[in-house]
Amino acid sequence: MKIGLLGLGTVGSGVFEILHERRGHLEKIYGETIEISKVLVKNREKKRGICREGDLLTTNPYEILDDESIDLVVEAIGGIEEAYDYIQYALNKGKHVVTANKAVVAKHIDALLTLAENNHRAFLFEASVGGGIPLIKPLKQCSLINEFTEIKGILNGTSNFILTKMMEEDLDFQEALKIAQELGYAEADPKDDIEGNDVARKLAILTTIAFQNNIRLEDVKYRGISNISRRDIKTFKKMGYSIKLIGKAIVQEKNISVLVEPVLIKNTSQFDKVKNAYNMVLLKGNNVGELRLYGEGAGKKATANAVVCDIIDVITDGCTKNTILREEKFKAAETKFFEGK
Ligand code: NDP
Ligand code: HSE
Repeated sequence: MKIGLLGLGTVGSGVFEILHERRGHLEKIYGETIEISKVLVKNREKKRGICREGDLLTTNPYEILDDESIDLVVEAIGGIEEAYDYIQYALNKGKHVVTANKAVVAKHIDALLTLAENNHRAFLFEASVGGGIPLIKPLKQCSLINEFTEIKGILNGTSNFILTKMMEEDLDFQEALKIAQELGYAEADPKDDIEGNDVARKLAILTTIAFQNNIRLEDVKYRGISNISRRDIKTFKKMGYSIKLIGKAIVQEKNISVLVEPVLIKNTSQFDKVKNAYNMVLLKGNNVGELRLYGEGAGKKATANAVVCDIIDVITDGCTKNTILREEKFKAAETKFFEGK
């Protein structure tokens, strides 16, 4: 299995390290070498400290995309348009694609899954929601046999990290954001994290899979945490509450309301115990019941772990089918933000 890696930042370097460290082990189990044969970066001059740096790095994506010996492309450059072009190109060239990019998945999920299916290749995106939490694969499987009625969760590591630091260490918003950026949790444009767009994208992906309906990214109403002050946090704390950025999709009769907003959480709730960059997702399905999935929602190794699990699924052919049924069972409900004090 030859892999072309697009991007060697937080996620890409994590994937590189895991595959390098576990190479012998994976080879023993699967009987084939898993080799990263080329890596796309923007700046070749940056010092990376990885082995074979000289012959591995390229700034030309087509050295990877047109290389017929490459079986699988990992996309970890981020952004939308360029990433979308490269993913389409790779699938059309008969390569499997694994991505961590929720922005591109949320916007183009139908087109990319259809393209993958038409080309008999896998398009997998476990790392795009919930960082290291194995979430997409079990949800894909469960959605075939469950009627889901609710998805609720803390789905952004950066904003949860900021709110935790403000609550527990009395840091101000900008200080906490700076640390989240240094730790590699934040998006290239951290506005996506703090204004709720990132959670909206993740919720759009989860609702698409869980409800198999016609809810789209445009249906997700969102607002973020950027106007929450230290004073607000102190007041909430005194009242026995914390505040969390929550994404929620709930089925009510034939409607689904999908909303992202900061919510006051009682300090007895399990959501209150989700600290720093951790995420937690609660799912309700008629067979599976209430399921809570918890783990590191952002960061190098946890996210890379999810990407490598997708690669292993391609090798073992354990990936579920690409197709997602779109049924007109539900429509997006009119949603309103909570306006109370
Ligand atoms: P980084 O900014 O850390 O890394 C991006 C990498 O892509 C860099 O190596 C950069 O090159 C390269 N790159 C960016 N644009 C281009 C381009 N146009 N051409 C060539 N190379 C390019 O991002 P992350 O690793 O944090 O994120 C990557 C993706 O993973 C994003 O979609 C993000 O949303 C997603 N993700 C991130 C998580 C995290 O915790 N960080 C968690 C889950 C998903 P160079 O090094 O030369 O600058
Ligand atoms: N910036 C994202 C977050 C990365 O903080 O949750 C994981 O998707």
